[in-house]
Amino acid sequence: MTLIRGVIFDLDGVIVSTDDCHYRAWKRMADEEHIAFDRADNERLRGVSRMESLAIILERATVPYTDAQKAALAARKNEYYVELIHSLTPADILPGALETLAALKTKGVKIAIGSSSRNTPLILKQIGLDKAFDAVADGNGITHSKPDPEVFLLAARLLGLAPADCLVVEDADAGVQAALAGGMKALGVGSAANNPTATYRAQSLAEADLTAMLR
Ligand code: BG6
Ligand code: MG
Repeated sequence: MTLIRGVIFDLDGVIVSTDDCHYRAWKRMADEEHIAFDRADNERLRGVSRMESLAIILERATVPYTDAQKAALAARKNEYYVELIHSLTPADILPGALETLAALKTKGVKIAIGSSSRNTPLILKQIGLDKAFDAVADGNGITHSKPDPEVFLLAARLLGLAPADCLVVEDADAGVQAALAGGMKALGVGSAANNPTATYRAQSLAEADLTAMLR
């Protein structure tokens, strides 16, 4: 039986609700380019890196884009997104997140962020959690995004823990897959709450009994 010594949290959709900001920023860019894009398409972008998200959106484009044009589209979306996340506040922290972090700290369990987002530092600052984690691994420090386990392996390394000693909390199926591929346990919440491959499932952190999962 392994004892969980570290919990690695995905950021978007687990700690903070940024879904709508991502959607509105991509939607603005897609509308400007006359590319069809709706909330169902947006679901496919969960956990996926910025450039991979763009590739998914461009599946519905009617004209081809060069690599330089693609880079410009991604930069434009990010400009819109950053504008929106500047209005995030601690009120955007998802139910149960703060209580979970506090409970883990009390138990001496290390906590980290493992996010694909390059905007992780800004988001953490906006919601007042920039000093809350023992380690932060994000899109700025990796080359392969989820379902590749790289970001979680980096987080475990920064915590000084073996992957088998870590539990990952994820709302994306790609993230659950990444955690398991990295040799970690996975708790699926939100959109991943019904993922049959996840080690544990809960609707949100507010409903998860993390204490039972630490054993
Ligand atoms: C993930 C989101 O956390 O970060 C994805 O779930 C997003 O939707 C990805 O595409 C990359 O984010 P950013 O901020 O680097 O564009
Ligand atoms: Mg997520």
